[in-house]
Amino acid sequence: MGEQYFERRPASRRQPAHIRVTVRGHSLTLRTDAGVFSKTKLDRGTELLLEALDVGPREGILDLGCGYGVLGIAAARLSQGGHVILTDVNERAVALARANLTTNQIRNAEVRLGPLYEPVEGMAFHHIVSNPPIRAGRAVVDRIIAEAPAHLLAGGRLWLVARTRQGADALRGRMEDAFGNAAIAKRGSGYKVLLSTKSEA
Ligand SMILES: C[S@@+](CC[C@H](N)C(=O)[O-])C[C@H]1O[C@@H](n2cnc3c(N)ncnc32)[C@H](O)[C@@H]1O
Repeated sequence: MGEQYFERRPASRRQPAHIRVTVRGHSLTLRTDAGVFSKTKLDRGTELLLEALDVGPREGILDLGCGYGVLGIAAARLSQGGHVILTDVNERAVALARANLTTNQIRNAEVRLGPLYEPVEGMAFHHIVSNPPIRAGRAVVDRIIAEAPAHLLAGGRLWLVARTRQGADALRGRMEDAFGNAAIAKRGSGYKVLLSTKSEA
């Protein structure tokens, strides 16, 4: 099998590139490379999640599986006075995300390397945002969902996006199991943005 985007240490020959995108009125220049997810343009699911994402000022946000960092960077721009932690298991993605914070002059965010919630052990956020690594297998995606409530503050929200034909409805069911609620925040181009809210109690 060829190399997958979620390798810890991609061996594929480097092919550094830049893409320019406008996200919610913010122009971003993003470094990408071989061995990371969606290296030539923003993934359509990621774009849809960016259109739906509703974050407020001074919020704590986790971008889990950040790739080259576009979700976390946009969240940092959208949450004035907030703080974003971006994480990924792929070392090349983490290096790109760090460079992209600098290039885009994002000062209210940081990037941490590691699997799942390990880099943010003991922390809780207002939002967890992820275009989850479906290809890494069901066990990984199930843990992102099942362990999310423990990493959210009361009233905090989990935002996921998935292709309908890659099991978005099944993911929604697992979010419903973990949170007792799961809504479709947005849909389009064969994707669904799913949203669960942790109860205030
Ligand atoms: C579908 S990509 C999304 C990347 C980026 N957020 C975007 O929207 O372009 C999923 C990301 O999850 C990362 N990943 C895979 N397994 C992981 C794990 N166990 N823990 C954290 N991140 C993981 C992959 O390396 C990949 O960058």
